[in-house]
Amino acid sequence: MLKGKAALITGGNSGIGLATAKLLRDNGARVAISGRDVAKLEEARKALGPDVLTLVADVRSRDDLQHMAHTVQQAFGGLDIFFANAGVAYGTPLASTTEAQYDGLMDINVKGLFFSLQAVEPIMRSGSSIILNTSWLNQVGAPGRALLSASKAAVRSFARTLSAELLERGIRVNAVSPGTIETPIHHQPGQSDEDYRAYAARVGAQAPIGRMGRAEEIAAAVLFLASDASSYMLGAEIVVDGGRAEL
Ligand SMILES: NC(=O)c1ccc[n+]([C@@H]2O[C@H](COP(=O)([O-])OP(=O)(O)OC[C@H]3O[C@@H](n4cnc5c(N)ncnc54)[C@H](OP(=O)(O)O)[C@@H]3O)[C@@H](O)[C@H]2O)c1
Repeated sequence: MLKGKAALITGGNSGIGLATAKLLRDNGARVAISGRDVAKLEEARKALGPDVLTLVADVRSRDDLQHMAHTVQQAFGGLDIFFANAGVAYGTPLASTTEAQYDGLMDINVKGLFFSLQAVEPIMRSGSSIILNTSWLNQVGAPGRALLSASKAAVRSFARTLSAELLERGIRVNAVSPGTIETPIHHQPGQSDEDYRAYAARVGAQAPIGRMGRAEEIAAAVLFLASDASSYMLGAEIVVDGGRAEL
């Protein structure tokens, strides 16, 4: 499905990004993944195989992002698929959130994503596809989630505006909107397995489908958006959330 195409995934060393890297590779794409954690990148390389390019890049660093785009250009000669996936999640109740917590979330989820797009846009080929990772939270009012939800609503908005802006370059921009998906993002430091299982059962039960999602279920939607099968989609969002925001 993606034979001859080159893909880059930020945050590709874990969770949804890693599952997507596997699926795109299995469908014939050459894949590069980025992240901050060198050990996790190395583990991902072992899982994915030596053909996968791994890049250390913090999305908060413009230098890292320029280097990432340059290395991909050198290795692949250009890009056909960019999955802007790197992100963080934590609660930010209005009364207790600090400025550092505000900056920590917005600098990665909004500013980091925007400048990732700015860095890779020049190497995207005509006919290419950009997929942004937003969240089911972009359209609901979940208490204690003001900043995460606002950051993902900004990402949802980028899919529309940048799709319009990049149309003349032949680049499509769409978004995937995951529900609550089983990935390391939900693991709290020091949390016991038992506590995590109780959390996962409680959160899973909140979705009409009755469980948390799997990273592979998001990767399947990204594959569709990355491929020419979605060639008539511009600025749109695929919601994959077990009915959480829709039912
Ligand atoms: N899981 C869910 O329930 C859910 C729901 C809706 C949306 N999402 C979104 O899905 C995306 C992936 O999350 P996940 O669930 O797969 O969690 P995850 O396994 O924790 O993955 C997060 C990824 O983001 C990378 N990352 C974080 N900060 C970064 C930075 N400053 N620079 C570069 N990379 C950075 C991490 O790499 P390093 O550790 O190496 O920095 C990691 O690869 C996020 O944008 C998240 O908001 C997840």
